[in-house]
Amino acid sequence: MRLNFDFPLLMSLIFCVALSGCEATAAGIPYLDEQKVSAGKIVYDSNCASCHGAALEGQLNWQKRSSTGYLPAPPHDETGHTWHHPDQMLFEFTKYGPQRYAGTDYKSIMPAYEGKLTDEEIWNALAFIKSQWPTEIQKKHTEAFSQK
Ligand code: HEC
Repeated sequence: MRLNFDFPLLMSLIFCVALSGCEATAAGIPYLDEQKVSAGKIVYDSNCASCHGAALEGQLNWQKRSSTGYLPAPPHDETGHTWHHPDQMLFEFTKYGPQRYAGTDYKSIMPAYEGKLTDEEIWNALAFIKSQWPTEIQKKHTEAFSQK
């Protein structure tokens, strides 16, 4: 019985070590790197703040679709659901736009940033966003999604 329970955990640990400490997957959002966070704030202020808010507060009634079928921009602070999503998903959502997850026909005001921002700029913007969360939320997000 015990063996059954421990086996997957053991295997994933071995797999992790085999990937030399999982460096490749641990990259993630660099929210503890002050330089990246301040570079990210500049990216955020000029590309994201107009919709997601200067203080990450989002737009009014962000959960309610307009009569034309568009959602307002959600907050990126702890009241929103950004912190419920893994690093890679947030990155791809920003790079390729909501259609990446919601289907090519999905109507959204959020643009895709591929070709407008570099991958590094996108990671930095996300670093700024995560750096603004309360420590408790940062911790929850890291524990839920980072592969150590
Ligand atoms: C023109 C308005 C607009 C701009 C500018 C914009 N967004 Fe969005 N964003 C939205 C909307 C609206 C949604 C909700 C998706 C939908 O339409 O259903 C969203 C959703 C998201 C989500 C997924 C939801 C979540 O909470 O995780 C992420 C991540 C995101 N935006 C990141 C960014 C980043 C980073 C930038 C700047 C580089 C940016 N957005 C710029 C409007 C915008």
